[in-house]
Amino acid sequence: MAGGRGRVRIYEVGPRDGLQNESTPIPTAAKARFIELLAAAGIREIEATSFVSPTAIPQLSDAEALLRVLPRSPGVRYPVLVPNERGLARAEAAGVDAIAVFTATTDAFTKRNIGMTVDESIAAFRPVVARAQALGWWSRGYVSNAFGCPYTGRVESTRAVEVALRLVELGVDEVCYGDTIGVGVPGQVEALTGLTAEAGVPLDRVAHHFHDTRGTALANVAAGLRAGIRCFDASAGGTGGCPYAPGAAGNLATEDLVYLLDTEGWETGVSLEGVLGAARFISEALGKPLTTKVGRAGGWDPATGRAIP
Ligand code: COA
Ligand code: ZN
Repeated sequence: MAGGRGRVRIYEVGPRDGLQNESTPIPTAAKARFIELLAAAGIREIEATSFVSPTAIPQLSDAEALLRVLPRSPGVRYPVLVPNERGLARAEAAGVDAIAVFTATTDAFTKRNIGMTVDESIAAFRPVVARAQALGWWSRGYVSNAFGCPYTGRVESTRAVEVALRLVELGVDEVCYGDTIGVGVPGQVEALTGLTAEAGVPLDRVAHHFHDTRGTALANVAAGLRAGIRCFDASAGGTGGCPYAPGAAGNLATEDLVYLLDTEGWETGVSLEGVLGAARFISEALGKPLTTKVGRAGGWDPATGRAIP
């Protein structure tokens, strides 16, 4: 449906955030096909994989092989996660042109996830982001556990903004707040977004990444939209989680997000049928039933009452 309210970017994280936590090994060719289906559905930003330690995330240890077979289409960006200079060198050799560095609000989590404190991670990212900029790449910085940490509990918005500002200062094009364990609620999303804008970060450089662990992801998107956010992460089929965040469940499902945005009159350029095809493909590859809301019910065109299969 053509949107009259303006454009919203959908940043797909299924191939990376989704597949990194799945125990079923997925062949590289199936990952490539999943990404191809997502691109064919109209998604322009697809986080493809991670150049991290294969011991830390064995599921994504085929990053080089995947990049070799991934068809590049004009206008489609395939950011990859990079934790350090080693990851950057691998990404450069693989011919990528967009990266994401990732830290979090607490040392307890960051130590477990990437073996560094938050301060150490910012120091490690400085040369990485500088090099990416010199190469003309697009870059994103994640602030994980923006609302709460599985090890230390509640996180204040002021802390999340503090970390975001340090990433902005490094020169990333976009910061993304991750609700890694899905504990945030709409009031917190509005507060965090408002504080970020007050701190001087333009909201067109801010994204939100929700996990639907407690069923609040779509409500949080609605709150983010009201607060001025125009980029949301999602995962087709609702796969996902973080191996270093016990209890992290799936990402907000792309099909659920597209349904909401379409029906609310936002323009995404993304076909719901196409996303449903990609979601069905990946759940079949994982040998799991598709359990997302729109995945099960199908879409629905409010103008005609016609079901979208
Ligand atoms: N790519 C591949 N291998 C890498 C690497 C990279 N970017 N960075 C480091 N390594 C290798 C090292 O060579 C070393 O290998 P060895 O054990 O064979 O000698 C091993 O990984 C450990 O590296 P080290 O520098 O000692 O750091 P570490 O053990 O503290 O690990 C990270 C740090 C960042 C590499 C690791 O924690 C990691 O990859 N984390 C990613 C976590 C993630 O992706 N989480 C999900 C996203 S939220
Ligand atoms: Zn996530």
